[in-house]
Amino acid sequence: MNILILGSGGREHTFAWKIAQSNKLNKLFIAPGNAGTASLGDNLSISVNDFKAIKGAVLENEIGMVIVGPEDPLVNGIHDYFLNDPEIAHIPVIGPQQQAAQLEGSKEFAKAFMSRHNIPTAAYQSFTKDSLEEGYAFLETLSPPYVLKADGLAAGKGVLILDDLNEAKNELKAMLEDAKFGAASATVVIEEFLDGIELSCFVLTDGKDYKVLPTAKDYKRIGEGDTGLNTGGMGAISPVPFADESFMKKVRDQIVIPTVKGLQKEALPYKGFIFIGLINVDGAPKVIEYNVRMGDPETEVVLPRLKNDMISLMLAVSNGKLAEVELDIDERTATTVMAVSGGYPEAYKKGYTIEGIEETNGAVIFHAGTRFEDDKVVTNGGRVLAVTSFGVNHKEALASSYENLARINFKEMYYRKDIGFDL
Ligand code: AMP
Ligand code: GLY
Repeated sequence: MNILILGSGGREHTFAWKIAQSNKLNKLFIAPGNAGTASLGDNLSISVNDFKAIKGAVLENEIGMVIVGPEDPLVNGIHDYFLNDPEIAHIPVIGPQQQAAQLEGSKEFAKAFMSRHNIPTAAYQSFTKDSLEEGYAFLETLSPPYVLKADGLAAGKGVLILDDLNEAKNELKAMLEDAKFGAASATVVIEEFLDGIELSCFVLTDGKDYKVLPTAKDYKRIGEGDTGLNTGGMGAISPVPFADESFMKKVRDQIVIPTVKGLQKEALPYKGFIFIGLINVDGAPKVIEYNVRMGDPETEVVLPRLKNDMISLMLAVSNGKLAEVELDIDERTATTVMAVSGGYPEAYKKGYTIEGIEETNGAVIFHAGTRFEDDKVVTNGGRVLAVTSFGVNHKEALASSYENLARINFKEMYYRKDIGFDL
């Protein structure tokens, strides 16, 4: 079967790496891909949101399945676009349809969904420009820190956590009246602050049944000790040591099952990955957010632990046969550490030559922001490479990730040296 993966980051390189191991694969295509995916298949220079060009590539290359990496095309309705076009309606798309993708596309939708299905999450209210005064009044009833979330997609920047009441009021006004995050902040969700340790839970569903994939913990802040600005993610570990069987039973019973049943009950068509951002509040799991895709860099530690054939698994999702699948998970711990461009997550330069990838040993190097310039691999994004290793525990795995990072070099390269410090 020919497969098309949409996206260009470390997550998509990992999908490509995993799919390339399947004997069901004929030819692999990645749009737009990066220098890493180019060694596993053909990169197509098509944007993930150019549905018409994607359709053209699917027909031309006789693609039998499309796997969608990032959220944008899902929230924009790529799955529906396929289903509504008789020429491509038969081609399976991995990822929810547009209505269900609102779980990530609208924080208000996600909060109301959780409320309807009694899924534990922070208490909240939502506000628009017309209810700004009520928003101020609601903030006054809360104790700090204050959590403000732009309703729509804001490239991971739409959540503000503020200690000061006046600052929270000013930010609320900036979001609602001055469109701080554009249309995404026309509605703002204000919620209770939850104090605990975060983890990511990944669920694969065919719309009826589900499988819980390995858990992972992501390190979002740029600085060591979880300080500084939020990034897309600086490293990840799987499994999460504190997500033991008793905690995961609560996650399944209180969160995963009600989510999958809720989607079904509300006729929200979902065949794909659900990423549930969780927080452990004194042993009680609560949902911070839903994403309608895999996490990045969590994918770089979750998929390497999955021993199942990826194409068979994706076919089971699209054919509604997930109940017949048994997951086979590598018991070892996987870790990944991201090498990023100096300056990220603020302004940074691109185009620096990356050296030393051939010198690595005992790690898998997933490309995130890279491209070819002539025949050299150069930096092409804030997050550049993810270095994944295995070990009997996270310390052993991290030792290998760090040893291999030391062999890689590009100008202004930075990585956190304390991934896993809190475990
Ligand atoms: P989100 O984009 O919803 O994942 O939020 C970004 C980050 O903000 C999360 O990963 C959490 O670290 C933090 N956050 C979001 N909501 C809350 C909350 N209610 N309480 C505490 N921290 C939160
Ligand atoms: N690592 C967090 C995310 O993918 O959103």
